[in-house]
Amino acid sequence: MYKIPASTLLIGKNLVFVPDCHSTNSLLMDLAQRGSNREGTVVITDNQYSGRGQRGNLWVTEPGMNLTFSVLLKPNLKADQQFVLAQAIALAVADYVKTKITGVKIKWPNDILVNDKKICGMLIESSLSGSIVQFSIAGIGLNINQTWFQSARATSLKLLTNKEFDLAIELHHLLAAIEKQYLRLREGAIADIQRAYEQNLYRLGERHEFKTKHERFKGAIKSVDAQGRLVITTEAGEHAFDLKEIRFADAD
Ligand code: BTN
Repeated sequence: MYKIPASTLLIGKNLVFVPDCHSTNSLLMDLAQRGSNREGTVVITDNQYSGRGQRGNLWVTEPGMNLTFSVLLKPNLKADQQFVLAQAIALAVADYVKTKITGVKIKWPNDILVNDKKICGMLIESSLSGSIVQFSIAGIGLNINQTWFQSARATSLKLLTNKEFDLAIELHHLLAAIEKQYLRLREGAIADIQRAYEQNLYRLGERHEFKTKHERFKGAIKSVDAQGRLVITTEAGEHAFDLKEIRFADAD
């Protein structure tokens, strides 16, 4: 069903389709650790029954309706620079979704929203060798044709456009967008990627309520630092939070 894309040089040139699997990220991690680690390898499935999300959440997706895949990348980054890869991939998915619809934003760290509803989640996992990123696995779950979701805050391309999409065609467009941003990263355009990510950031500069384990407070997102921490300005000053520490108060 899925074919090797003609429009990319690297991403998807080795394409592994499995009809079902527990998690494409876990499967690709196993392959990579066993030496099958060609950069750009894509593992894609129609039925992921134990998908993993951020913060230890599950990623549940209806079989055959969405794009559910992982890409193996060797971004040549130091461990403390690895967030820029997440930024590049988020930008790429945002670029792709913008070709279909307006109102697209990146919600920190790398969810893609359309008009406040989530259309795509990403899980990027890296294998480190000392302080160097040996390889990274970018797992992407993009809602395409699914029309019913457990969460009222999820959406899909079909819900947004009333059109049915061909998954194989959309995969090629998305892989081309990923390759474009990834090659920019490989060329060293780190500052450009960080700037573009921030320009697309959901609720940048707006005052909203946040929650930590201990409190709720109001503040505005000032930026995202190079380590990927969310920098929030409050009356008390500026503070940087990592993913485990904070979430929007109105998040699920
Ligand atoms: C999130 O929003 O919490 C991240 C979701 C990431 C889901 C994708 S689907 C393909 C890949 N394989 C996984 O097990 N997870 C990612």
